[in-house]
Amino acid sequence: MLGDGEFDKRIVEGDVEVWVTMMGPYLNMNTAFIDRSNDLVAIIDPFDAFAWCGELERQGLRPTHILYTHTHRDHTAGYSQMVSLIPDLEVWGHEDARVPQLLEFPVFGKVDFNRTWSQPPLLSVEWSVGNIHLTVTHTPGHAPGHVTLHGHEVFHAGDLLFTNGMGRVDLPGSDPSSQVRSIGRGKEILKRLPNDWRMIPGHRYEWIDGSTPDWVSVGDALEHNYALKSV
Ligand SMILES: [Fe+2]
Repeated sequence: MLGDGEFDKRIVEGDVEVWVTMMGPYLNMNTAFIDRSNDLVAIIDPFDAFAWCGELERQGLRPTHILYTHTHRDHTAGYSQMVSLIPDLEVWGHEDARVPQLLEFPVFGKVDFNRTWSQPPLLSVEWSVGNIHLTVTHTPGHAPGHVTLHGHEVFHAGDLLFTNGMGRVDLPGSDPSSQVRSIGRGKEILKRLPNDWRMIPGHRYEWIDGSTPDWVSVGDALEHNYALKSV
């Protein structure tokens, strides 16, 4: 189990490195994809900009892209510091996650995307930069414009799925019916992925045996996750 701000780093097929960490009091999981040959670093939902930039800098790297699963405050916590440290960052999110009408609720954080995805719910688009190739799927329900991202042997679920569960649907902007459809779409995708890929949740919560693993395999998620089993 990762300590706060500790990184799991591995090189996967396609000469891309995948770094995973857990950060902060809400146990947020962050994933980064690194293409050293092109100096590219794409980080999903970076929680602590200084921790990320420091760790990357020690290896001569800097963030180039940040990719948002959704704009709840705990997922956007690193945004302001990140863009002040790296002003030319590409900041990606789904068009529907621009929610000015919901910013009055403390659960949301303000992010100015300078690039967006805009596919309808349940559809996937391919996103590539250098050797990094990800599939981005629009999975609203927990939050407007929520997306999952998969590629390079991981499925980063954001708050669509936890190891044994799913994101809340009682928050401002949540939509329980959309969430059910999005979980179904997630299940479809997971069933087509290799069973040994990692399913990385948005938060590190309890697994079926009371442990709190950083991730579970796609196979284990499909077999045990109660939300996946219910659709
Ligand atoms: Fe969330």
